Amino acid sequence: MIKQERMVVTNQQEIAHHIFELTVQGELTGEMKAPGQFVHVRVADSFEPLLRRPISVASIDFESNQFTMIYRAEGRGTTLLSEKKAGDTVDILGPLGNGFPVEQAKQKAYLIGGGIGVPPLYELAKELNAKGIETVHILGFESKGAVFYEDKFRALGDTHIATVDGSHGTQGFVTHILNELPKDFDTYYSCGPTPMLEAVQWAYPEKQGFLSYEQRMGCGIGACFACVCRTTKSETDYIKVCSDGPVFPAGVVIS
Ligand code: FES
Repeated sequence: MIKQERMVVTNQQEIAHHIFELTVQGELTGEMKAPGQFVHVRVADSFEPLLRRPISVASIDFESNQFTMIYRAEGRGTTLLSEKKAGDTVDILGPLGNGFPVEQAKQKAYLIGGGIGVPPLYELAKELNAKGIETVHILGFESKGAVFYEDKFRALGDTHIATVDGSHGTQGFVTHILNELPKDFDTYYSCGPTPMLEAVQWAYPEKQGFLSYEQRMGCGIGACFACVCRTTKSETDYIKVCSDGPVFPAGVVIS
């Protein structure tokens, strides 16, 4: 069930250049159903900026009723959010959308992420590992200063890093790494910019895949049509990324 709650900040820190990790506590945590769902965060208590920002969930701890989000502070709204400290409260609406279907993986999964699309793959990797599924992580960033959670992913499985400028790991994009890796997996999950998702689908036309789309959003709950995409699979030819997604099986969204 979707809830709106003033959640308590328990930790906030900058984990890479302009990338913040924010942990909050509250009952909304118990409503989370799958990795890849997101929340809509009201970034400031003043009327301006009024809009909420969609932020993905990087990790969930049901025992302590806490979850962690990772976001890039790049505009006025998210910069204000980055100033919140432990003990402050944040107005959060969620959980929103449909997450990654963990049960679809059989033995081995590739998790492929780019930039701020990497965070939801961390909770996914934890849940797949807990089910005994081997995970391989292929993660792309702009540069060394933008890399985060490398050690955390390494603790869960084989991890490959690409940076656009070559300052860490393989120079280039995640697709450069995919070309070098065996295709000995049954399912892939991917989250990141649309061109990256397209390239991943092209790389594995014969595999089962699930893609999480990043889209501009307004309401986050299916009411405003800000996030519509064309699709191959619906009678109306349009789907809403916020409420029908953000995760779709490969081949469903026309970008
Ligand atoms: Fe409003 Fe999706 S953001 S319908």
